[in-house]
Amino acid sequence: MTLATPITVVRGRFLDIQNIVSHASEIAEQVRYIEDGVLITEQGKIRWFGPWEAAQDHLPTDVEIQHYPEQLIIPGMIDTHIHFPQTEMVGAYGEQLLSWLNTYTFPTEIQFKDKAYAQEIAKFFVNELLKNGTTTALVFCTVHPESVDALFEAAEQHQMRLIAGKVMMDRHAPEALCDSAESAYVDSKALIQKWHGQGRALYAITPRFAPTSTPEQLERAGQLKAEFPDVYVHTHLSENKDEIAWVKDLFPHQNGYLDVYHHYGLTGQRSVFAHCVHLEDTEWKCMHDTNSAIAFCPTSNLFLGSGLFPLKKTWDQQVKVGLGTDIGAGTSFSLLQTVNEAYKVQQLQGDKLSAYESLYHATLGGAKALDLDDKLGNFNVGKEADFVVLDLKATALQQLRQSRAKSIEDSLFALFTMGDDRNIEATYIYGQKAYQQNQSI
Ligand code: GUN
Ligand code: ZN
Repeated sequence: MTLATPITVVRGRFLDIQNIVSHASEIAEQVRYIEDGVLITEQGKIRWFGPWEAAQDHLPTDVEIQHYPEQLIIPGMIDTHIHFPQTEMVGAYGEQLLSWLNTYTFPTEIQFKDKAYAQEIAKFFVNELLKNGTTTALVFCTVHPESVDALFEAAEQHQMRLIAGKVMMDRHAPEALCDSAESAYVDSKALIQKWHGQGRALYAITPRFAPTSTPEQLERAGQLKAEFPDVYVHTHLSENKDEIAWVKDLFPHQNGYLDVYHHYGLTGQRSVFAHCVHLEDTEWKCMHDTNSAIAFCPTSNLFLGSGLFPLKKTWDQQVKVGLGTDIGAGTSFSLLQTVNEAYKVQQLQGDKLSAYESLYHATLGGAKALDLDDKLGNFNVGKEADFVVLDLKATALQQLRQSRAKSIEDSLFALFTMGDDRNIEATYIYGQKAYQQNQSI
């Protein structure tokens, strides 16, 4: 493993959102744009940040300044929902959620029993995150503990802050992919003890979704959460109408889908529910009251035909939300592309999604959804130094469009609309360059 050099100095154009906001309309006031700025990191954290003119007294004399005069530097992007074992099955044709799981997903995930296979895909996956400017992700592994080890080991190579967990699943799936209530508890507990808080790794208790866990298993998941209150809970919720009807059939004594998780103690400040496309009013209220978070996954919701997520409601109901790529139901690792589709999902509902709001969701808002906004999400001094250097003119069309940009906001909007991994020039993790386009590091 390469260790972070103690001090890094980066000069360039910086853009971030300074503070958490409670309404979409407040975001523009919190945008911080420094046309010629300097970021100084020490031991992976931000030691100083500000304009070049004010930096002179803070610059160490013996450290080379990494200068990006043309590019735009933003905080590392945060993917709040993704499946690493589904990397190889992006773009599986023709099904909606439940048949997509049976036809494509389960057969793919069975392969991850083999640790060597899991390691190969984990390495590819982590590289793909870096290549797309994603510096933190909340990740589903498979039911196999080996898959969790493989992923955390790959992330550790880059000192990446990653949250992940072993899938818990003891029914309605192939035998080879099922654990039991007891083994899921024992295996998850061992993984928590091994990984949670180890370096930058954090653990998420990960029941796949209510239909694939028995009540006994959900009870055990709740027991784990009670025993380890600062670990995460990560699952799916209200993605597809057939799925919701199935949950109501399977859990007739609960008052709807979210109430199943709530009943077993799985809601809360560190609980992240992917999708939430079709929540009922009482469920929005429960999300708010329990301070639970949503992962909005537009490319997935469109690809599987799940529905249109009402992003505006998260502001109205004061519910935390981040963006998720949801690879492999989602169609791109790029959070730029994810924002592009998020914009269109709002357009189809008559709502607007501004470039600054998108930047917020991809960075500080995502950090807040993961309860990591004290560590990640912007360039505030003391936070962890994960950031991305963007080339706004990666194609001829982008070059033309950017040359006509009327403002930094317009420029950012064009980037989100047309951007992808070609725009990621470099990705820094914990103060150190972990990816440079067209170069192996
Ligand atoms: N619901 C349960 N499992 C999955 C999954 O793997 N992907 C998505 N998109 N939804 C799910
Ligand atoms: Zn998912």
